[in-house]
Amino acid sequence: MDRYEVAHESYAPFGQGRMDGIYEDKALVEIASLYNKTPRQIVLRFLLQEGVICIPKTVHEDRLEENFDVFDFTLGEKEMETLRSFDKASPLIGNPESPERVLKAMGW
Ligand SMILES: NC(=O)c1ccc[n+]([C@@H]2O[C@H](COP(=O)([O-])OP(=O)(O)OC[C@H]3O[C@@H](n4cnc5c(N)ncnc54)[C@H](OP(=O)(O)O)[C@@H]3O)[C@@H](O)[C@H]2O)c1
Repeated sequence: MDRYEVAHESYAPFGQGRMDGIYEDKALVEIASLYNKTPRQIVLRFLLQEGVICIPKTVHEDRLEENFDVFDFTLGEKEMETLRSFDKASPLIGNPESPERVLKAMGW
């Protein structure tokens, strides 16, 4: 992606509300309490530190403020590793490795 100067974007950083169980994960809750942040803030910070552009959506003003309040701390490498281990290598929305899907997306 660097070669083609393409930025990775998370257009559903909270899984469109379909992954809410993850915010009760013990390891994630522990990391959040270490930084006095919410699990969702940790998820956003993790994505940002991985170089991923995040577009979280909320209709609640307090949540909007919460989602912006992720620029005053830095996760350590050990925590980043823990969070990387959450990757199930299984996309929530569509399959980016499907040639049909890629061809369809190119027409969007
Ligand atoms: N996903 C796509 O396919 C797609 C495509 C193009 C553009 N977009 C845009 O990208 C953005 C992503 O939105 P999305 O809905 O797809 O996915 P998302 O941001 O992953 O998930 C949004 C969900 O998270 C909840 N939420 C947000 N902040 C929260 C917080 N601090 N605490 C608790 N819950 C929170 C929202 O509820 P509340 O609103 O009730 O707070 C909503 O249910 C939107 O602006 C969308 O228009 C998305």
